[in-house]
Amino acid sequence: MTPKKYESVASHEQEPRLKTSIRPAAIEDVDFIFSLDEQARIASIGQGYSPERMHEVKTDITEKLVNPRYATEIIMCENTPAGMVMSDNEPDPIDPSNIVIPKDGTIAMTTEDVADLLSDKAGVSNRKHILSLALDEKYRNQGIGKTAMQELLAAIDPQESITITFDTGRNNVPMQKLAKYFGFTLVGLNEESDDAYGGEKIIGVWHRPSIAELQRQQETRNQSEEAEIDTLRQSLDEI
Ligand SMILES: CC(C)(COP(=O)(O)OP(=O)(O)OC[C@H]1O[C@@H](n2cnc3c(N)ncnc32)[C@H](O)[C@@H]1OP(=O)(O)O)[C@@H](O)C(=O)NCCC(=O)NCCS
Repeated sequence: MTPKKYESVASHEQEPRLKTSIRPAAIEDVDFIFSLDEQARIASIGQGYSPERMHEVKTDITEKLVNPRYATEIIMCENTPAGMVMSDNEPDPIDPSNIVIPKDGTIAMTTEDVADLLSDKAGVSNRKHILSLALDEKYRNQGIGKTAMQELLAAIDPQESITITFDTGRNNVPMQKLAKYFGFTLVGLNEESDDAYGGEKIIGVWHRPSIAELQRQQETRNQSEEAEIDTLRQSLDEI
């Protein structure tokens, strides 16, 4: 078993009511991780895995646990496993031609900008794909997801920009709220549907700009506002 980078107890300004900690996942956790995965599947499509598929899924989880490319943590509540988070720290490239810009995006980005974020061109060194973030049903909506997310982002300097991707249902409000809470904005969608989830799953590209990037965006906004004011002044002068 590959040793993990850290073992820590996470805390958050909005402390969850239950005592929460996070520890690296071990092989003994495979059944628990599988049960969360199956729970999510049942919630989405109303059925679990067939016995053959169950074996494949457990093998896949086991392989990821020993592969340093992936980081898997178990979220503990009062010494009981309550959830898990698995991330891919070297995510595969996303085909830019599949990226769609969301209609309600609040950061003005083009498809090319988002494609650059997902490649090395944008110079964004921090990129993660969240393969899974799931809590057992009875532990949800108590601030524990925030603690897990905080741990996931702990190693990243808040001054640096980061792009995360995760696939989730279009109507998954808690997961989307969680990303927004940590300063992320949805900048792209990879609408390759996942048939296993009835085509409802989408991969969202979420970006949290660095301080320098925020300043550049603000300058661009100021410049366009100044240009608008100039145009207005000119029109008024002409009247
Ligand atoms: C998604 C998930 C990890 C979020 O964790 P959580 O502990 O339930 O969320 P938190 O309590 O930390 O709350 C996060 C935000 O979502 C909101 N929220 C939580 N549950 C909600 C619900 N059922 N309906 C609406 N909003 C909800 C919270 O109010 C909070 O918003 P705020 O920032 O405005 O306060 C958890 O709900 C879960 O395991 N869901 C099932 C698996 C899943 O969908 N995973 C995501 C796919 S990658």
